Amino acid sequence: MVKETLSTANLSVRLLYSSFLILIGIGYIAAVTYLYMTHAGLDGKSGIDMQDIVTSYYGNRSGTRLEAAIQGPMKIHLQPAQSATIIHWLNTGAPQQGYQNEIRPILQQNCMECHNATTSSMLKIPNLSSFQGVQQVTKVNKGMSIQSLVQLSHIHLFGIGLMLFAVGIIFIKAELSPWLMNTLIVLPFVSILADIVSWFLTKWYPLYAYAVVLGGALMGIAMGAQILISLYQMWLLSPRPISLVLAQSSVDHQISSL
Ligand code: HEC
Repeated sequence: MVKETLSTANLSVRLLYSSFLILIGIGYIAAVTYLYMTHAGLDGKSGIDMQDIVTSYYGNRSGTRLEAAIQGPMKIHLQPAQSATIIHWLNTGAPQQGYQNEIRPILQQNCMECHNATTSSMLKIPNLSSFQGVQQVTKVNKGMSIQSLVQLSHIHLFGIGLMLFAVGIIFIKAELSPWLMNTLIVLPFVSILADIVSWFLTKWYPLYAYAVVLGGALMGIAMGAQILISLYQMWLLSPRPISLVLAQSSVDHQISSL
């Protein structure tokens, strides 16, 4: 029997396969756009670079949000001496004691115009009117918590696993040399696993951010190749002439009856 291939599949089958592949392709582009929007500028610089990936998983352990703010956009609201007092307090671990005596008066005097309880919730900026509020910006940023990583990774593993399986079931009917076929089938699964494992490794050692990017990119490339090859063979690769198919099938038939 002749193996059913994409170029010989009937019209309904090709329409079903193609609609699915195109939808997945658009979904993938949306996912990459979303990734860009949520990661760009995390490190304070516009655009996306390696540091944004590191900030997202490893965090920025060299300073707190409060320190970054008073040395950046909020600098204009403070005298240099007041700024130095706050940074010294942050470096000693931001204890409640020092807050009451030294920090609270500075914040009350310079920041309450905007960071009071009402305005801050309206503007969605930190509420600096209480110690609890201030604590939100004095914690060192350690990146995404293990809990959110576990949550994200199980959703990704199930979702992407099923998606790759469905795309692969279609792609497997393409005509390709076996080694290329098998590589393209296994590669996206391995890549996404490496990508997700690297999220956790990046929390421990920031250099693994490169593996996160490499894994994600490889999975995208491999899946993109599966989709494009499948679409190409369904619509642009002319099926083998029917006489050839018949000849092949009679050869197959003779072989199987041997
Ligand atoms: C005139 C209004 C105004 C005053 C006064 C002001 N801020 Fe802000 N602050 C903002 C706005 C608006 C944002 C959000 C936009 C941004 O991050 O630039 C913000 C953001 C922040 C953030 C969060 C940054 C982040 O990581 O997202 C911190 C921390 C902060 N301000 C601290 C201070 C401190 C400390 C003072 C007083 C010395 C102060 N601000 C005074 C308006 C103000």
